[in-house]
Amino acid sequence: MTIDVPEADRDGDAGDTMADAGDAVADAGDAVAVDGSAGSESRWPVGSVSGGFALGEVLVSKAQLSERIAQIASQITRDYAGRQPLLIGVLKGAFIFMADLARAIQLPVEMDFMAVSSYGTATKTSGIVRIVKDLDVDLTGRDVIIVEDIVDSGLTLSYLRKGLLARDPASLEICALLVKQGQQRVQIDLAYTGFEIPPEFVVGYGLDVAERWRNLSDIRVASSVASSIPSDSSVES
Ligand code: IMP
Ligand code: MG
Repeated sequence: MTIDVPEADRDGDAGDTMADAGDAVADAGDAVAVDGSAGSESRWPVGSVSGGFALGEVLVSKAQLSERIAQIASQITRDYAGRQPLLIGVLKGAFIFMADLARAIQLPVEMDFMAVSSYGTATKTSGIVRIVKDLDVDLTGRDVIIVEDIVDSGLTLSYLRKGLLARDPASLEICALLVKQGQQRVQIDLAYTGFEIPPEFVVGYGLDVAERWRNLSDIRVASSVASSIPSDSSVES
């Protein structure tokens, strides 16, 4: 299986990403469709089991992540020229994406983090979101970009966006690394998106299932091998 990337992106390997970023696809708002695999990290072979979940194929490789993030960062650098955007990372899932994105943006960005927890099952949020850690920074008059790992139902982001808009930022946009095809229960306006993925549960690059596999360098499918998934637990982002 292969990942479908735009024509303009097919010209180089991972080593080229920063150099290519300037002339990369103009619109970082359009997610790159993903439909396949691109080799996995040898330390975590397909079928590795942890916490009742088995690792599957790679959906987005390390090289694809770094190339796409360079493109998004260069779009943000252009869009916010002369300004000092405030990146708000949604913990925990977005921490690796946030770190890579922030370093690739060629502007004096500031950063803050929020942690949210939503009531639901191990793999599905309910939309009832609780703020576990709030921001330290005042949003009044700031150009805010929410940095999120993945949009599934969209309920978490929709809740966060409403709450942050009430704090009077000058602008508020969303940057999400992954969007699950056809899963959104609410309309969400995403200014920057990385990859559109099939509606599978994924881990790696900050994303977890029951706190496992956040430290994988790529994004991989995880499927349940347990006879029962814990339900009605609190799921941290
Ligand atoms: P939503 O509110 O349904 O959009 O879910 C968003 C949150 O659920 C994300 O911030 C993630 O923390 C978590 N989530 C949703 N899908 C996945 C997944 O496939 N892997 C890991 N976490 C996920
Ligand atoms: Mg999570």
